[in-house]
Amino acid sequence: MSIRIRLLLSFSAVVAVAIVLFVLTAFLSSVAVTGDMRSISSFYNIHYSIHPLTDEEESIFLDLKYLAKQDPAQLNDQELLASYDLKLKMVQAGLFVRQDDTITYASPSLAEPKMGEALPQYDAANYTIRSTLNVGNRFFSYAKFDFPFPNGEQGSLYVMRERSPWTEIVRTLLPILIVVLLAVILLTGLLLYRYVTRSIVRPLDVLRRSAEQIKEGDLQFELKPQSRDEIGQLSMTFEEMRRRLNESIQLQLQYEDNRKQLISNISHDLKTPIATIKGYVEGIRDGLANTPERLDKYVGTIHDKVTDMGRLVDELLLYSKLDLKREPYSFETIDLATFAQDAAEEIGFELGGQGIQVEYEMTANTAPFDKAVIMADRAKLKRVVDNLVQNSAKFMDKEMKRITLRVGIDAGASAAVLEVEDNGAGMRGEVLPHVFERFYRGDDARSTHTGGSGLGLAIAKQIVEGHGGTIEAESSVGAGTTIRIRVPLAEGNADMRAGGGE
Ligand SMILES: Nc1ncnc2c1ncn2[C@@H]1O[C@H](COP(=O)(O)OP(=O)(O)O)[C@@H](O)[C@H]1O
Ligand SMILES: [Mg+2]
Repeated sequence: MSIRIRLLLSFSAVVAVAIVLFVLTAFLSSVAVTGDMRSISSFYNIHYSIHPLTDEEESIFLDLKYLAKQDPAQLNDQELLASYDLKLKMVQAGLFVRQDDTITYASPSLAEPKMGEALPQYDAANYTIRSTLNVGNRFFSYAKFDFPFPNGEQGSLYVMRERSPWTEIVRTLLPILIVVLLAVILLTGLLLYRYVTRSIVRPLDVLRRSAEQIKEGDLQFELKPQSRDEIGQLSMTFEEMRRRLNESIQLQLQYEDNRKQLISNISHDLKTPIATIKGYVEGIRDGLANTPERLDKYVGTIHDKVTDMGRLVDELLLYSKLDLKREPYSFETIDLATFAQDAAEEIGFELGGQGIQVEYEMTANTAPFDKAVIMADRAKLKRVVDNLVQNSAKFMDKEMKRITLRVGIDAGASAAVLEVEDNGAGMRGEVLPHVFERFYRGDDARSTHTGGSGLGLAIAKQIVEGHGGTIEAESSVGAGTTIRIRVPLAEGNADMRAGGGE
């Protein structure tokens, strides 16, 4: 059974019970007040039949009754009757006297043309003394006494009081009131039903539809909670779930995209040298290398290409190991200053032949320091410096070729800084953000056949990050490039001896 139907049933039940209780209460209270099992509509009648007069009126009535018993002749005395009537008038009541069928005295304020017909019949036994009567639109309660006049005529004496028109209105409106009351109960039930449906069933419907959407694989929507109640919280949690799911799927798609890109890059980078090698091998096969010099040149080129491919595969392997965090690090304490100094010396020796000057500087831009002790994998750190220096050497375009290694300590004294600066060609602004991406090579690098896999900086970045550090590039076209590495200082940097103990 759906919640909607259950709610409808429960509200109907509530309304039904309310109506039954209402009727029962009305009935029981009328019984309780009147002591009689009569219908509620006669409630007022019964009430006023029991207490038709107030105490003062009652005492005047009793006086008159006494008179009627003892000396009925006096009830012909109009003056006396008028004086009683005046007393009654003071308490808003009136007096009627009937002799046989003629009304001999009628209180002017209560007189009604049809009163004669409405007054009850003579009853010598005085069975019903108190009751109510309707004359036209007016409603009266009265006490009556029937007695014989001395001449044997039937006399009746009425002390009467007009009841508030409200009483009448309530009496006539009672059925309408009951209908209105029932309508109010019904309407309340209906409104409550609508309210609950709106606040529970509808949001649940929305949730169900959203879940179906997700099932169909559509995550590109937003679920806005309509309220702060439990259902609103459920919607919020649901929305959070959708968002996370969407994020993870997007990430998955991006990984997938990356993987495809990677495969396409690798295939491309392997295809080119393979095509070259194939061409040269075919040249040899077809006898194009007909002189020893040519053969030598062909074989030399093939060897170079194979070496390139070997390096590419090596770099790829290293990159993938670093990426998968499968490449172990062997950390030791290293003074970066000494390390950079040694590296500069060694690299300077290697690159001296190409006319490149390699210098080491203790930087002036950071706080003064003696040592910059870090925890590092010496071989991998050397690999980073080699990659950077190789790039610098590759993109040299000046007569005076210079590479500077510079070490410092960050202003916050929390990280050691190593800069590799060159005065080469530099990079354009739009290239800079991408240089650390794997397989990324600047247009110049592609067009000038400088070689390289585009993995050098990506590997450098992986290694630096493996040390908990950061790497950034700064460059201006024509002026040169600076790659800056920050690695956290080891604890107790100040009292460490330099060089890791070699
Ligand atoms: N010192 C530099 N001067 C100018 N451009 C550089 C320098 N270092 C890196 N680059 C640019 O960054 C790109 C990526 O470098 P890298 O990852 O080492 O790949 P590769 O050296 O194989 O091209 C290079 O292709 C080049 O465009
Ligand atoms: Mg490189």
